[in-house]
Parts: sequence; C-alpha cells; structure tokens
Amino acid sequence: MSSFKSIPGTFDILPEGHTSGGDAIAPSRAWQYVESTIRSVMALYGAEEIRTPILEPTELIARGIGQLTDIVSKEMFAFERGSTNYVLRPEVTAPVMRAYQQHHLSQKGGVQRLFYIGPCFRAERPQKGRYRQFHQFGLELIGSTDARADAETIACAVDVYKALGLTDFKVRINSVGDASSRPRYKEALIAFITPFADQLSEVSRQRLESNPMRILDTKIEKEKELLKGAPLLRDFLDEASRVHFDEVKAHLQSVGIPFEEDPFLVRGLDYYSQTAFEIESDDLGSQGSLAGGGRYDLLSTELGSKTVIPAVGFAAGMERLLMALEAAGKLNVEAARPEVFLVALGEAALDWAFHTARTLRSAGISTGYDLNGRSMKAQMREANRQNSRYVVIVGDDELAAGAAQVKDMDQSSQRTVDFDQLATQLKA
Ligand code: HAM
Repeated sequence: MSSFKSIPGTFDILPEGHTSGGDAIAPSRAWQYVESTIRSVMALYGAEEIRTPILEPTELIARGIGQLTDIVSKEMFAFERGSTNYVLRPEVTAPVMRAYQQHHLSQKGGVQRLFYIGPCFRAERPQKGRYRQFHQFGLELIGSTDARADAETIACAVDVYKALGLTDFKVRINSVGDASSRPRYKEALIAFITPFADQLSEVSRQRLESNPMRILDTKIEKEKELLKGAPLLRDFLDEASRVHFDEVKAHLQSVGIPFEEDPFLVRGLDYYSQTAFEIESDDLGSQGSLAGGGRYDLLSTELGSKTVIPAVGFAAGMERLLMALEAAGKLNVEAARPEVFLVALGEAALDWAFHTARTLRSAGISTGYDLNGRSMKAQMREANRQNSRYVVIVGDDELAAGAAQVKDMDQSSQRTVDFDQLATQLKA
C-alpha cells in the first residue's frame, strides 16, 4: 500500500463509487453519463466546445474576477516560475473571454455559444460539496446584448438538469445594475450598515471595507436579520438596466421557466453587470448552489479589448449535480456489460484466449478473460461478476476439436461453436 493519499479537497474518480473525505464520489460511468447528457443539450443549443488550458496567467484571473474577491484574494493556487505568474484556473469565464479575444473569434460574426466541461481549482476549506479541485460545466454566449440571451443561458442550465431528471431546484435572479448604478448603491449600503458594523462578523466587517455588496450574501442568520431593512439595488438601477431586467424576466415567463427574484443575490465575482442568477438545489443543504452566472459585458474591456464584447453565461458544479442526482435517485447508471468472457483452462488455452480476445474485439465485441491462470470456478465467478452475456469455455479438448462451448448466460443455454465461426455467431 502506498503511503501517499490524494490531497484533501481533491478526489479520485474510480470505476466504482466510493467515499472521499465523507463525501460520496460517483463512479466514472456516472460522470460519463452526465457529461454526455450535457453535450447533447449543448448541441441542441448550437453550442460548440472550447477547451482552454488549466494554467492561465495570474493577472488574467485577478483582473477578470477582481482583486478584492475571495477567489482572487484568498483562494488562488498561484505560483511563479521564471518571470511568469501562473494560476490554476479557478473558473473558466475569464479564460474563455481571453481565448475569444486572442483568436479573434468575433470575426466569425454573430453570436457564439461556447461550452466547456473541466476541472477548476480553489483553495477553499474542503467540506461537503466544496472541493479544492472540482469540475464545472458551463456555457458562454458571446456577442449579444439581447435579454433573450440572458434568458436562453438560464434555460440551457435548466434544460441540462431536466434532461437528467432533476426537478428539485430553484432559479433565483437579480440585477446588479451597471457600472453607473453601483457606486451610488454602495454608498447607500455603507451608510445603512456602518451604524451596526460592530455587530457584524469579522468577514463582513472586512467586506464593508473591500466589497460591501458581498455582505448581502451572508449565511449568518443574525446578519440576515440586521440587513432586513437594507437599501435594495433594484431601487438604484438606471433605466436601461431596469428595462433589461424586466425583459429577462418576461422572456423566462414566456417559456415557462419559474424563478424567484432575490434582491439580495450578489455574486462572488466582480465581472457581472445587469443579470445575475443562481440555481439552487433543495437536496444539497449548505452548499446548495448548483450553478451561477450572469451577464458580464465589461469583462472584455477589463481584459484589454478596445470595444465592448457583450456576453452572458453560466457555470455549474459537476460534483454538486452528481450529489443532487444521487439524492433524487436519478443516478442508477449500470456498469457496461462485456459481451463475452473467455474461460481458458491451461497455458495453450490462455494463448488461444489472448488471440481470440483480439479477434473478437476487432469485430467490435467487448471481450474479457482471466490473466492469472485461475481455476475454472474462479474464472466463472469473474464472468458472473462482470455480468457477461456469453461465456466461452476452452480447454485442451476444445482446442483439439477447434470448437468451443458457448454459454448464453441470459437464456441459460449452451451450444458448440467452431472457433472460426465465433465472431460471426456472437455478433449475430
Ligand atoms: P461560481 O458561482 O463561482 O461561478 O461557480 C459556479 C458553480 O461552480 C457553483 O454554483 C458551484 O456549483 C460550483 N463550484 C464553485 N466552487 C466550487 C467548489 N469549491 N467546489 C465544488 N463546486 C464548486 C463561476 O465560476 C462563473 N464563472 C460562472 C459564470 C459563467 N458566469 C458567467 N459565465
């Protein structure tokens, strides 16, 4: 046994489900099933996959997400090598916008829908549903200011969940206004909170200095109580933002997507303007946020573009989705079943099995056999464990006859098949 273990907050994904740090980790086939469903839904939206590096320049993330956010100030896995600063990407939106600009993707014209599935890294305190290496899937819709784009992004996330059979989730939305409405709002919020600042937690007191809107995001009941009469951003929205928000809500209603308006919803990343949303599961407890996103029209200029590239998107946690599916009993993905298991008795038969496995596999028939020279009983047990449809038994007698016993495990029947007929008969 190795004395090495995976780092807390990271985990292995194995052929069978297991637990890691108290959390259930779904088997790899469940991940594959969810990923392939995501790909099918993304195809329905005409979204194409983008794969960006795990390593990005630290400055891209710091500028994109915002210096004062938790992610950038405390949670980055960043390091220096030579004269370059690297970060393990904590999210994929800023990298996608970087790639969009770097490769002049706007030249294609029109709107681009780009989706991704892959690992992200945040140095958070590991707990249920919160990891240091986790996986996101997401969609970025780039090149439109239309409120339908915002509604479509939310619809896409909802459709992924629906396609997987998840029903217990809620969409919460808010408008965080534009760059002109926020400073006025911040001022009003600071004026409201300052008189009782000494009753706030350490974290919230710090946020009052650095990022007061994030105080609204508190999970502490006492603070929620204190914030009850706080000024609301929606009362500070400029006309254009108000109209845009009303349109997004109307579009969601028109396609029957239920949502709740939450004036306290503020996201933990600074690039948002206008629409912000989260999708929450009822089954997940404290780490209930399945997905989050919103509009980020000013990220492009923050990253150096001369013109504003309007964009909206969402990202969702794979781990939390898998947990929610498991809790809802929607994750019964059966192991793939090998079609054939070759039971070989003796050295010559094992050699035959090695060659025959190759022939059958070339014919597209999944085939297993035992490589440990075990007893017939042990090999039959293995065939059963793998739930093979057919078992082919070969010993010296069969080798001499050039024909094998083929057991059909579903029909409980048995027949003799010539070696050279095996592939065609098994295929039929
Ligand atoms: P985010 O809210 O930071 O948004 O993350 C999106 C989702 O990733 C969360 O709702 C959650 O399911 C999952 N997630 C985040 N951190 C962790 C963690 N430590 N462990 C497990 N799951 C986690 C973004 O990342 C934005 N880029 C979303 C976006 C896309 N906005 C526009 N486009």
